[in-house]
Amino acid sequence: MNDETNAAASEAATLSDWGNVAAGDVMDRLVSLCKRRGFVFQSSEIYGGVGSTWDYGPLGVEMKRAIRDFWWESMVRRDDIEGLDAAILMHPRVWEASGHVAGFTDPLVDCRNCKHRFRADALAGADDPYCPRCGSRDLSEARQFNLMFKTFMGPVEEDASVVYLRPETAQGIYVNFLNVLNASRQKIPFGIAQIGKAFRNEITPGNFIFRTREFEQMEMQYFVKPGEDREWLGKWLDIRRAWYGELGIRADKLRVHEHDRDELAHYAAAAFDIQYEFPFGWQELEGVHDRTDFDLGRHEEHSGKKLSYFDEESKERYVPFIVETSAGVDRTLLMCLVDGFREEGEGKDARTVLRLAPRIAPIKLAIFPLVRRDGMPELAGEIYRGLGRRWNAFFDDGGSIGRRYRRQDEAGTPFCVTVDGESVTERTVTVRDRDSMEQVRVGVDRLEDWLAERIDP
Ligand code: GAP
Repeated sequence: MNDETNAAASEAATLSDWGNVAAGDVMDRLVSLCKRRGFVFQSSEIYGGVGSTWDYGPLGVEMKRAIRDFWWESMVRRDDIEGLDAAILMHPRVWEASGHVAGFTDPLVDCRNCKHRFRADALAGADDPYCPRCGSRDLSEARQFNLMFKTFMGPVEEDASVVYLRPETAQGIYVNFLNVLNASRQKIPFGIAQIGKAFRNEITPGNFIFRTREFEQMEMQYFVKPGEDREWLGKWLDIRRAWYGELGIRADKLRVHEHDRDELAHYAAAAFDIQYEFPFGWQELEGVHDRTDFDLGRHEEHSGKKLSYFDEESKERYVPFIVETSAGVDRTLLMCLVDGFREEGEGKDARTVLRLAPRIAPIKLAIFPLVRRDGMPELAGEIYRGLGRRWNAFFDDGGSIGRRYRRQDEAGTPFCVTVDGESVTERTVTVRDRDSMEQVRVGVDRLEDWLAERIDP
């Protein structure tokens, strides 16, 4: 190797998937960027924060909405899927029927020395377990701990009024199966989709918004004829895998993991995880499950109501099988931030950038008058007011153009529009692309169409 290739090789070795930042530092950098730029704040921060809940700031809330909208458009704007928004609080017997009261548990062990509590699988030392915190071997037997949050409905705090915060949105769909079927006149196969909050009293939350106690799910339950479930499981896995590609996620960071028998949840006959390689390892983004007739069967049994379907074509009556796709909004958002995050360049060319797909970027375009005179602020203002009706746009006339670009790179804004002297005479502007940093001149009259092709493809 000559010196030049040597230098190139050593540079490649020091660059990570995130540019100048080592994998181990990515999460810290991202958490601080999220706070600084208003993506995500710690909940109740002025009181010292509360365990593993987070608040979405002005940029985070825009991005979260865009992720939900993209999922809804992909999943519900189809002839065979209907939307639903069920209540978080449900009849407590729902959770007996679903198996969550008896089975939604983690085994917990107490350390009698340091008084900390751990999931049994988090103990150190396989054959001779000890406390991962203080090293003591004085541990309690494992006890099952239910992950559902309990509260009381009405003014009396007694056992009869216990209700749960739902740990998954899916059950709201199952108990409405007949309502939606009758109201929509769908025929099997068809699906019901919803987006909403779910709550789990996780023992080991962490990794920022990856595992939290309050989170949001995007779930779709697809009702099929018994025997056709495996075919639909494969089809939905392909559709959902492709969705992450459309979000612009790097293909080599996505993979599918099939559950072994001993990994399967209590309701599943077969299950796949779509996983992403986070800086803290490969982790689940979404589950795609064959839930058979478990859920409708159990709700029939516990409610005494028939939840079967009469197939007009085959003249058969059956309890449909269910194929589920279950993704997390917060986890998808974290993946997009992690996947797009880079610290690039050296010295005065150094920048932090979020390469977010334009469709989910919180600010779609920024508009800069080059200087505050000669008609530039007026034209920039006219463009801002026009395009701002369609997209979340940002007007910035402060500081050098370079600094204005850097501020937008860090927020993930895909396009920056600069109004200069020529813009006023020729009615053309410069559009700068966040990722390539290339600039092209576009006519003011064509600008909306030019952007639309790239933002709403
Ligand atoms: N209805 C099936 C179900 O809830 P799950 O695998 O337990 O399946 C589905 O959860 C998805 O919900 C996960 O892939 C993840 O994206 C999200 N999720 C689950 N628990 C979470 C938590 N504690 N924090 C954030 N997201 C979570």
